Amino acid sequence: MRYNLSMSQLHIDLLEPAGFDDFLRYLNDHLSDNGRGDTAYFQPLPRADSRFPADKAAAFRAGMQTPPGTPGWRRVWLARAADGRIAGHIDLRAHPERYAAHRCLLGMGVDRAFRQQGLGRRLIEHAAHWARTSAQLAWIDLQVLSVNAPALRLYQSQGFERTGETHDLFRIDGRSFAYTGMSMRLDGHRP
Ligand SMILES: CC(C)(COP(=O)(O)OP(=O)(O)OC[C@H]1O[C@@H](n2cnc3c(N)ncnc32)[C@H](O)[C@@H]1OP(=O)(O)O)[C@@H](O)C(=O)NCCC(=O)NCCS
Repeated sequence: MRYNLSMSQLHIDLLEPAGFDDFLRYLNDHLSDNGRGDTAYFQPLPRADSRFPADKAAAFRAGMQTPPGTPGWRRVWLARAADGRIAGHIDLRAHPERYAAHRCLLGMGVDRAFRQQGLGRRLIEHAAHWARTSAQLAWIDLQVLSVNAPALRLYQSQGFERTGETHDLFRIDGRSFAYTGMSMRLDGHRP
């Protein structure tokens, strides 16, 4: 079923630790779309294992309470429809490498019932504004499966530039997948 979004009634709010279990239920439902029907694979996970890995929950929770700029930090924002239902999410997190605290990594998704109404764009604008103004980061980086045409188009339209592609990075469900790297500069300087 498809829901028409009224952008004026849409709220994008930071996920607080108390809402984490609710978010995980939404995320597991979202991940069940991975490679299903018309939806391209959007996570490097096999169809049979397309759920949030349970062993990562503790680090995820801890990251939400870690200050930006500190190893392991993470922030998640949820878009909610007027009835409170989660319509989409975006998260920014620390790079695992040292000396890269001026950059972050992005992940996101929009619930199947709310796609192609501009919500993906709104979520990126929201997170990029926070990264630029509150966290004072210089770059947002991401990796996307090269078969995920909707996401590639969305990122390009929002100012991300391709930085490279690794062919045959994953072999999942009997198929080979390439991974595309993309980055967006936030501070206006050229490299
Ligand atoms: C990719 C995704 C986040 C897009 O969210 P969305 O809310 O539908 O995107 P928007 O409505 O804001 O679309 C913005 C732009 O993205 C592109 N886009 C979005 N959906 C598209 C589709 N199905 N086909 C082609 N381009 C698409 C278009 O350029 C669009 O601009 P336009 O409407 O002016 O043509 C959503 O399809 C999704 O959650 N997919 C599954 C999870 C996923 O891929 N996450 C990203 C993992 S890296």
